[in-house]
Formats: sequence, structure tokens, C-alpha cells
Amino acid sequence: MTKIAVIGGGTMGTTFIRAVTNRDLVKMSDLSVCEVVPERREWLSTEFDGIHVHESPLSLPPVHSVVYLSVKPQDLGGLQKLTPASSPVLISILAGSTIAEVQASTGAERVVRAMPNTPAQIGRGFTAWTATDSVTSEERALVSRLLDTMGEQLYVTDESAIDKITAVSGSGPAYVFLIIEAMINAAVNIGLRPDDARRMVLQTVIGSSEFAQQTGEHPAVLKDMVTSPGGTTAAGLSVLEQRAVRSALIDAVAAAHQRAEELGRQ
Ligand SMILES: NC(=O)c1ccc[n+]([C@@H]2O[C@H](COP(=O)([O-])OP(=O)(O)OC[C@H]3O[C@@H](n4cnc5c(N)ncnc54)[C@H](OP(=O)(O)O)[C@@H]3O)[C@@H](O)[C@H]2O)c1
Repeated sequence: MTKIAVIGGGTMGTTFIRAVTNRDLVKMSDLSVCEVVPERREWLSTEFDGIHVHESPLSLPPVHSVVYLSVKPQDLGGLQKLTPASSPVLISILAGSTIAEVQASTGAERVVRAMPNTPAQIGRGFTAWTATDSVTSEERALVSRLLDTMGEQLYVTDESAIDKITAVSGSGPAYVFLIIEAMINAAVNIGLRPDDARRMVLQTVIGSSEFAQQTGEHPAVLKDMVTSPGGTTAAGLSVLEQRAVRSALIDAVAAAHQRAEELGRQ
């Protein structure tokens, strides 16, 4: 069975541990986690019964065929080099850190750069990934099975696509949460109870998304289906278009993409 080391036992590291073990893809005893914060190490030992907890990647035995790197991007420079003897495939999820930077800091040659998003925490995430040519087809199949446990995944051949995808699905949950928050505010503003407002807005977002997924219809067609001439939806949509919500979203994604590229150049 594959032995995996997770470096950085924070939110995204534990999301990965939970996902791969819940789906029985990896046994807890085949997982190691490196974490610098002592209280967090204690918490990891209690939360994940049987996992091997280390303070530093330096004390990892060279038995892991996959290393999942989930420290914050600013901690990349301070990482110790992985032991050459282990030569694992390294999956980096560091936002804005290029494959070349990850290779230089960790000494790993075979690198997968992946970009998950926060709904991965409930197995409903979207992860885009790419790999260096040296990652074999068997290893790619394994990476794909591992990432599948957190939701949907998409392989791309070109690393520059990762910065674009970061701006859409990586940052996307925050855009959706802003819209959800505003719709709840709006519902309360016209006199609905906050808890009812929250339920109806969340179900409207989930239902609309799953409706679009299951029908495969273009969103414009689905939008037209609920818009009768001179009706309530037409009145609401007209305000959204006047206030340029569509172009605000287009500009938001373009700004996030530009920022992702800038972070990669720093
Ligand atoms: N959150 C997201 O939606 C998301 C999505 C895609 C990608 N990412 C990427 O995922 C990475 C992790 O994000 P996160 O939200 O999980 O952050 P986080 O909760 O802060 O987790 C990072 C953990 O790694 C620890 N750490 C730092 N340096 C270490 C080292 N040398 N050895 C072992 N452990 C170390 C940190 O300790 P300290 O607290 O002491 O630093 C922290 O506990 C980031 O690079 C981010 O860009 C996040």
C-alpha cells in the first residue's frame, strides 16, 4: 500500500488526510504528518488514530512514495530538503508557488502542482492539477485517485492554466459566499426571518447548481426559463445588469488571475 507523508497539518493537510482515509484509499498507519506547532501535533495524534506525527520532514523515514505539501506559501523557503533516498512524488497545493520554486526549495524532482478549494473539506471540492514530465503514468493514476477523494479533479497539461483555475475555482467559493451573504441580507431587508433566509438562499444556490449540472443546459437557457416577460425575475435581473454584476465578476476573476501570476513571479 502507498505510504504518504503530509507536510503541514493545517486545514488543507487535514482535509486530505480525512478524504483519503474516509474512502479507504490509504490506511491511517500508512500516513505520516509533519507539523511545526506542538499543540497541533497533539491534536493530530488524537484526531487521527494511528497516524505517525513528526515535527519536521527531517525525521521522516524514507518510505513514502507520495509527499503532500500543504504548508503556507511563505513557509516554502524554510523547508528542509527531502532526503534524496526517498525520491517521492511531491504534490504541492501552495497557491502561487511554481513547480520550479517547489523543486528548488524541496529538492524534489517529480512534482505535481495542484489547486484544491475549500469545499474539499466536505468531499465536494474541485482540484486542478498538472505534473512534471518525470511523473510516470502509474503515478499520475495514483494522484488522480487521491485527488478524487476530495471531490472532482481536472488534469491540465500547461502549468499556466493553474493560475487561471486558481482565480475561478480556487477563489470561487469566496465569490459565492459573498453572493450568499448579500442574498441573505437582502431577504432580511424585505422582512424575512434570518434563519429562514439562510435556508432558502443556501438551497437556492445548491439546487440551481445541481439543476445546471444534471440538465447540462447553458445557464442562459436556465435563466430564461424563470424569466417571464414583465415578471418578478425580469425586474430583479434588470437591476443586476444595470449595476454591472456580470462585468464585476469578469473583472474579479481577471484581478485574481493577475494576482496569482504576480505571486508566482515573487
Ligand atoms: N485554504 C484554501 O482554500 C486553499 C486552497 C488551495 C490551496 N491552498 C494552499 O494550501 C496551503 C495550506 O493552506 P491551509 O489553509 O491549510 O493553511 P494552514 O491551516 O495554516 O496550514 C499550514 C500548516 O503547516 C504548518 N507548517 C508550516 N511550516 C511547516 C513546516 N516546515 N513543517 C511542518 N509544518 C509546517 C503550519 O504551522 P504554522 O501555523 O506555524 O505556520 C500550519 O499548521 C497554502 O499554501 C495555500 O496556498 C489553500
